[in-house]
Amino acid sequence: MKSLARLLLLTVSLAAAVAAFASRAKPVIGLSLDKLKEERWQRDRDLFVAEAAKLGAEVIVQSANSDDTRQLRDIESLISRGVDVLVVAPHNGAAMSRAVKSAHEAGIPVMAYDRLILNCDIALYVTFDSVKVGELQAAWVVGRWGKNERPLRVVRIFGAPTDNNAKQFKQGQDNILAPLLQSGRVQIVAEDWALEWKPENAKKIMNAAIAKHGHGFDAVLAANDGTAGGAIQALLEEGLAGKILVTGQDADLAGCQRIMRGTQSMTVYKPVSRLALLAARAAVELARGTTPATTATLDNGFKKVPCLYEEIVSVDKDNMLSTVVASGFHSADQLK
Ligand code: BGC
Repeated sequence: MKSLARLLLLTVSLAAAVAAFASRAKPVIGLSLDKLKEERWQRDRDLFVAEAAKLGAEVIVQSANSDDTRQLRDIESLISRGVDVLVVAPHNGAAMSRAVKSAHEAGIPVMAYDRLILNCDIALYVTFDSVKVGELQAAWVVGRWGKNERPLRVVRIFGAPTDNNAKQFKQGQDNILAPLLQSGRVQIVAEDWALEWKPENAKKIMNAAIAKHGHGFDAVLAANDGTAGGAIQALLEEGLAGKILVTGQDADLAGCQRIMRGTQSMTVYKPVSRLALLAARAAVELARGTTPATTATLDNGFKKVPCLYEEIVSVDKDNMLSTVVASGFHSADQLK
């Protein structure tokens, strides 16, 4: 009886070993995204899936439509489908730590993609330097204002408070603005968070600032191109578009077109093509049981998470061609 049980156990573990080997030869990656609304996330998904396929991996993609409960459910379902690795861009960096714990219990490594997941044991974080994004935005506006006699009056539109990146963008802006606020060279006229990163919420913030302060501001530090679009809509209605400096990030097509037409001043180009490739390669490595080499870490409240970073660049009308267009992100024709 004992030997039968042993034989059974041996057969089961052999089968498991064969299955694991097979799955590593053609790994399955679970990609859980917050949403696909902004243009960039569709690119992230398409490039990630294509690169993973080139490397012999299959990707199951889920998009949670900015809903934490749905993203938790998406991840639970990817776990139960037995993926080899999970790649997650969380809607809410704090809420998604529960999902990482479930993945851990199932022995599945988790990589955070572009947005950090807080207070849990993630294997890797593949990202852009979000603090630097905020620094580039504030530095561009301050640089353009230059030695103007008057202090620079700024309206700040932050991103979604549930997104750890939004806090980092603000932090980066604060790094540049703090000494200038202290010396009185910069004044904050109004500031607020655009819930869910929605352009219409950014527009409301802009409308409220105009209602309260009239035309008494010189620049809008909008956290991304989507919120910049909302703010510019409000500026257009007041005849102010093109007269106020407006920042953004993502190099969305609409954002780049506004830059060329003069209603938006700058964006931060984050080459998602490179990030998605980097992440797909790292995910396949993790699925095959090796850990990609890293040189940096970021504290997520639980541990210093190993990080892989991609470079970013500040873009305005002057260097649009040599950056966004030269890299093939948008064609010159699209920007006419
Ligand atoms: C990303 C930005 C994006 C924003 C809204 C942030 O986490 O870093 O690139 O514009 O989310 O989706």
